[in-house]
Amino acid sequence: MITDADRERLVAAAVKVRDNAVAPYSKFHVGAALLAEDGRIFTGVNVESASYGLTVCAERNAVFKALSEGARRFTALVVATDEERPTSPCGACRQVVWDQAGDVWLILQSTRGAREEMPFSAIFPRPFEFEK
Ligand code: THU
Repeated sequence: MITDADRERLVAAAVKVRDNAVAPYSKFHVGAALLAEDGRIFTGVNVESASYGLTVCAERNAVFKALSEGARRFTALVVATDEERPTSPCGACRQVVWDQAGDVWLILQSTRGAREEMPFSAIFPRPFEFEK
């Protein structure tokens, strides 16, 4: 679970970093913030390419930044957009988040105020996993 203080600083980080989104084609700005068990926050934004299919979503950028800095265990993920209804991660990000972070607490935050929270497994109930 997540404390109220961590929830608010994680939401604030996702909302703030969203301003850095590189989305000249879609104009759809996404911010993500991933909380590591050690308290560190790793943020990400979507970065679009002129070759559209090379675009990387905010969620995956946050995960890859965290892993690159050595974090391996995570508590919560925030996705922030400026939609009326909070935005849910795309299918590709669901798999990557599950692979690397597992069943984190997911917070979907609209900059207009709406917030939804759920375990990640609620949006990704039957993940692909290698047999151990
Ligand atoms: N996008 C994200 O960053 N995260 C999502 O969960 C959904 C989509 C980005 C990719 C692209 O830059 C833009 O939003 C429109 O699809």
